[in-house]
Amino acid sequence: MSDLKQLVQQLPKTELHIHIEGSLEPSMMLDLAARNNVSLPYADIDAVSNAYNFNCLQDFLDLYYKGMSVLLTQQDFHDLTWAYLLRCKQQNVVHCEIFFDPQGHTERGIDFATFMHGICSALDKARAELGISSKLIMCFLRHLDEENAIATLNAAKPYLDRIEGVGLDSSELGHPPALFGEVFRQAAKLGLKRVAHAGEEGPPGYIYEALDVLEVDRIDHGNRALEDPELVKRLVATQMPLTVCPQSNLRLAVIDDMSEHPIRKMLALGLNACVNSDDPAYFGAYISGNFHALIDALDLNRKEILQLVINGFESSFMEESSKNAYLEQINALH
Ligand code: ADE
Ligand code: ZN
Repeated sequence: MSDLKQLVQQLPKTELHIHIEGSLEPSMMLDLAARNNVSLPYADIDAVSNAYNFNCLQDFLDLYYKGMSVLLTQQDFHDLTWAYLLRCKQQNVVHCEIFFDPQGHTERGIDFATFMHGICSALDKARAELGISSKLIMCFLRHLDEENAIATLNAAKPYLDRIEGVGLDSSELGHPPALFGEVFRQAAKLGLKRVAHAGEEGPPGYIYEALDVLEVDRIDHGNRALEDPELVKRLVATQMPLTVCPQSNLRLAVIDDMSEHPIRKMLALGLNACVNSDDPAYFGAYISGNFHALIDALDLNRKEILQLVINGFESSFMEESSKNAYLEQINALH
């Protein structure tokens, strides 16, 4: 392994943009389908992998929602989350902030209690046994209307002690952030943090709406901010975090080749970008794989790698004392 890849392994890392349903590996999908008697349109693991050929976000989302149909019981959600946390341990991810899509499950008749208890039991076990800290971020599906999002926020009220913030995901084009102003205002009143996918496929205007209408603490993706120099200036001045997902960008055709990935340019402009996996089971790379792809394609250097990792900690919602302890560890490697 190259020195830089060893450095990536050695560094404690965060993950701030991971959809837990997007960590459902093909093998687990098939096992759960068998366990729960759910029929899938795939004969075997190769058939699943061969189907993961996407031309855009919507191509992926269509399979992502089909894939999650195998998740039915509390144990399923526990197993899914635990498998992701074991990957974190292997790759030295010490803190993760996990998205989940309640409407992807309640729409199928699964109770809030089922996925909350399943996910949280795995998070608690990881804290105790693996030393991994975590936060949960509940995402609203933007292809559904705001009324549905408000009903979801209300259904989450018994579990707010386990939910750090809310997010906005799913089909971006045609579903601008401003349509969700009221539910984000209500979330803010409840003391929840706010993040939103913006500028993955959507134009810079969607990023302005996420900032001005949703008053977000972080932008998920944000690639298309680079088309608007005024917006870049504002994002730099406020050090607004951008949770960038390189391998996702490649697999969803946001970029044509990893050598075109804008993350190095983002750092050079002073943007607060960090590296994340998004939906690792669908895109073929967890955190380390994303760093490796950037090292191979962009010839990223040691300073840039450290900056990306530091940005992840700085942008996280983790407790200040632990955040500072990790930052000290990383600075000692400078
Ligand atoms: N849901 C899961 N992954 C997503 C992505 N990359 N963009 C929007 N919604 C998603
Ligand atoms: Zn995402």
